Amino acid sequence: MADIGSDHAYLPCFLMKNGHILFAIAGEVAKGPFQSAERNVSTQGLSANIAVRLGDGLDVINPDEVDCITIAGMGGSLITEILERGKEKLHSVKRLVLQPNINAIVIRKWFLENSWELVAEEIIEEDGKIYEILVAERGNPKRPYGQNLEADLLFGPYLVRFQPEAFKKKWTAEKKNWLRIYNMLEQASETEETIEKKQELLTKIRLAEEVLSDEDS
Ligand SMILES: C[S@@+](CC[C@H](N)C(=O)[O-])C[C@H]1O[C@@H](n2cnc3c(N)ncnc32)[C@H](O)[C@@H]1O
Repeated sequence: MADIGSDHAYLPCFLMKNGHILFAIAGEVAKGPFQSAERNVSTQGLSANIAVRLGDGLDVINPDEVDCITIAGMGGSLITEILERGKEKLHSVKRLVLQPNINAIVIRKWFLENSWELVAEEIIEEDGKIYEILVAERGNPKRPYGQNLEADLLFGPYLVRFQPEAFKKKWTAEKKNWLRIYNMLEQASETEETIEKKQELLTKIRLAEEVLSDEDS
């Protein structure tokens, strides 16, 4: 596997030590984190199986070298930019495991447009932070989606069905925040921009109300 934006290379080290993988690349674009990864891999005696490489996105991967890519701890837009720019490196890749800090919707849309089927989603809370994880494999990109594509793309087709505790917590807080911004914009002088922003917020607030109340009923 290749872990892109690996920082300390904690994930490849964990996977290797627990026997989940045979070989990993820990890719980093920044010198400091790259050096931390090198140090960590070496002190754990994993240098023979984990290659730490300095480079931008998927540039650190040679063709056909890995069948799984993980990218965690960045925004959804940056993650999709990395995948889009490195498309030719994805030929041998069977699985993507992505953990966007924000904007998971951008990744779900990218999957739809690029023939990746979202096969699983997780949402977990740890130390007061909520993490969303998306797993995709090659397949039918439309399969996970139901009637309400807009809601499924925003909230996640699997997560919206099962609504774990962290899901309810995240979207209840987001809805509250959208409402707060909406009310602030109501006070501001009206421009084309504020009208558009209010409409966008209102759509999201209504979608959140719909899916969260679905679960309550
Ligand atoms: C917040 S850290 C996340 C580290 C780790 N993946 C995690 O989830 O804990 C994001 C890391 O991605 C790296 N990064 C950002 N853009 C990158 C790119 N285009 N290619 C490789 N690494 C990148 C940053 O240098 C940083 O170390």
